[in-house]
Amino acid sequence: MMTRKTKVGIVGAGPSGLFLAHILRLEGIDSVVVENRARQYVEERVRAGVLEQGTIDMLIETGVGERLKREGLIHHGFELRFNGEGHRIDMHKLTGGRCIAVYGQSEVVRDLADAHHAAGGEIHYEAGNVAIEGFDTNAPSIRYSHDGVTHKIACDFIAGCDGFHGICRPAIPSRILKFYDKVYPFGWLGILSDAVPSAEELIYANHPRGFALHSMRSASLTRLYLQVEPDEPVDAWPDSRIWEELDVRLQTKAGFRLTTGNILQKSITPMRSFVTDPMQCGRLFLAGDSAHIVPPTGAKGLNLAVADVRVLSRALVSYYRTGSTSGLDGYSSSCLRRIWRAQHFSWWMTSMLHRFSSVDDFDHRRQLAELDNITSSESASRNIAENYSGLPFVD
Ligand code: APR
Ligand code: PHB
Repeated sequence: MMTRKTKVGIVGAGPSGLFLAHILRLEGIDSVVVENRARQYVEERVRAGVLEQGTIDMLIETGVGERLKREGLIHHGFELRFNGEGHRIDMHKLTGGRCIAVYGQSEVVRDLADAHHAAGGEIHYEAGNVAIEGFDTNAPSIRYSHDGVTHKIACDFIAGCDGFHGICRPAIPSRILKFYDKVYPFGWLGILSDAVPSAEELIYANHPRGFALHSMRSASLTRLYLQVEPDEPVDAWPDSRIWEELDVRLQTKAGFRLTTGNILQKSITPMRSFVTDPMQCGRLFLAGDSAHIVPPTGAKGLNLAVADVRVLSRALVSYYRTGSTSGLDGYSSSCLRRIWRAQHFSWWMTSMLHRFSSVDDFDHRRQLAELDNITSSESASRNIAENYSGLPFVD
């Protein structure tokens, strides 16, 4: 067995794990990242792509925002579409200058991995049988196998950044944790197409046939989503059916024209809300999707992961500088406040925009009344704009 020592052992090289490794390196704290997939797989996985103002600022401040500044699409507003009409929410004006960037999560992951590799940071990809031990003692460790050799990373702390299906959360005795879980009766079919975007901004559409979303990745790549049944096979959605359905759901009285193109990627994701409380056990700290999931309607998943890492990295820095564990002890409660705000927002956006199987005409009219209120009242518009662009960090 090969044993290595480091300060922080990180499981998972998604946005949470890489951003934590990046910040710790800037602060002079060693870490080792262990990832079970190949680097190419992690960097090519198509995921969401909206960065809140606070996330943009953090990436720029920590030196990994150069490509984001060049290639990210800054949006000052977004559209809510219902009853065949579009209503723009002027986020920038309503929030006193906040905006979002449309920049794929895979690009964020690539920028972080490049910066970390270039600075000599250690990331072990394709690690087999990853397991964690001893986090209830002062000597935790991560074990994995690679090329037939067993490796042990002996560390002071473990960061569980291994996503919803990872091994860190299940390693905590379940009597210590409480889970809050809500599964929605639908999924999102997402496509990436080489079509030129049909509008300059994102469009969230409530339609009697179900929700649709128009987003993008660049001036020549469109990202679109459709509400579908949660367990539907992707084969039920040939390309022509996808374009027809998008066209119907995004239609306006003014004659909206949807640009079509080749479909480069297609997948269906189930939707759920999930929270783990607490997010820590002994010397193990969960961050990002390993601790919580939001439905993608509020575009909060990646931003929450970054917010967790912000709190965790500060707590670790304070521990290594002063020996104080107060930041680490308060990790869960600091994170959970923002997480529950985002949970509420994401659930609310989801409930307002989707067709529920039980929806009768009453519920649809109620949704339309709510959308009418949001788009015609300045205070209601400001509320959605503030939450969507991301509330400022509290400390
Ligand atoms: N051992 C090592 N790594 C693992 C293991 C394991 N047993 N299981 C999973 N992983 C890796 C995954 O392959 C992935 O690269 O952990 C990483 C987790 O990354 P994400 O799922 O992207 O989670 P996170 O980094 O917290 O980022 C949250 O991802 O799903 C989106 O919407 C979500 O935008 C949010 C973001
Ligand atoms: C995306 O562009 O992938 C996207 C945008 C907004 C969302 C979810 C996903 O709410």
